[in-house]
Amino acid sequence: MTTAIPYYDGPARFADWTDDVVEVFREVAESDEFILKSRVERLEAEVARRTGAAHAIAVANGTGALTVILSALGVGPGDEVVTPAFSFVSTASTVALRGARPVFADVEYETGLLDPAAAEAAVTERTRALLPAYLFSSSPRMADLAALAARRGLHLVEDSAVALGAEVDGRPAGRHGHAGVYSFFPAKPAGGIGDAGMIVTDDPELARTARMLRNHGQPPGKRFYHELLGFNCRMDELTAGFLLRKLPRLDRLLERRREIAECYEEGLRPLAPELLPPPAGFEGRSVYTYVVRAQRRDELRAHLADQGIGTTVYYPRPLPLQPAFAALGHREGDFPVAERLCQEALALPLHPDMEPGAAERVVAAVRDFYRAGR
Ligand SMILES: Cc1ncc(COP(=O)(O)O)c(C=O)c1O
Repeated sequence: MTTAIPYYDGPARFADWTDDVVEVFREVAESDEFILKSRVERLEAEVARRTGAAHAIAVANGTGALTVILSALGVGPGDEVVTPAFSFVSTASTVALRGARPVFADVEYETGLLDPAAAEAAVTERTRALLPAYLFSSSPRMADLAALAARRGLHLVEDSAVALGAEVDGRPAGRHGHAGVYSFFPAKPAGGIGDAGMIVTDDPELARTARMLRNHGQPPGKRFYHELLGFNCRMDELTAGFLLRKLPRLDRLLERRREIAECYEEGLRPLAPELLPPPAGFEGRSVYTYVVRAQRRDELRAHLADQGIGTTVYYPRPLPLQPAFAALGHREGDFPVAERLCQEALALPLHPDMEPGAAERVVAAVRDFYRAGR
């Protein structure tokens, strides 16, 4: 019996980090600093240094980062934000929860990311911002989207939650528009030991507002004085302390993810057109998940499960067709590419701690499925 290859192997993933976790807990317990203190400040400085951002604002999670930044930009009722029909829910729910309208645009089949032409067609006189997302192992066409935002006088906010460490056209993900966000949710490449997120921007006024909004609208150092109506969206010292230990190792971890992606690419590319891997060339990309487009996806998934290989479907339903967005009145057929991807997309196991030979076994199992014409 060969060992199983789980989709997400939490215990393996944190095995190397146990000492760090224990030490961080001890340090924090002995320091009497719990929230928004010295470790958080050091982490902000580290992310600013890494990304070249003038300001990094630590928050409680990636969703909170989007909420705070949309709020800081003044997005609210009557406004529209153009956002992809295929993404994690936060890309659109944060817009709707500001009282603004998420205007969904279809995505590109190769990457599942916002199609700049569809985004342009979705812009109206009420549009305030473009909100593209990075997903899986790919980056949106940021040059086209930045040009569109400039042409139409729109804010450009990057949902780069999964992409700390990636670069597009030589510039870090999250640094192509007015602001970008990162998530440190444990499964992410830069994952921590709990929820956490970060906003980056070069705009000092936006940064000042975001800093207040994350902490009940209080200016730093002015306790119980509320300049704005804000949120409780603060990062804690435990997660920050852990991330200060993890970020120096992020590049190596991303490198390992790319190696696995390249193994998949080489082994799976010959299966086209029945199975289509993501675009090749992983240099400069943050490989978060490896999502293929598969004919007979559900049968392939069952075949892999039979062999102990775990997979995940990102995402089973386009956002506009989620019950939560029913009020927007979208129907099947409105977003054909997003809908097709929901039928075909399948994420294969990929994390830096995969056993040697595991990726090759996944490749063999996928090839076996199509070769056998199952
Ligand atoms: C594309 C995208 N945006 C936003 C988020 C939200 O991040 P968090 O889970 O830290 O709130 C995620 C996390 O899954 C994501 O994948």
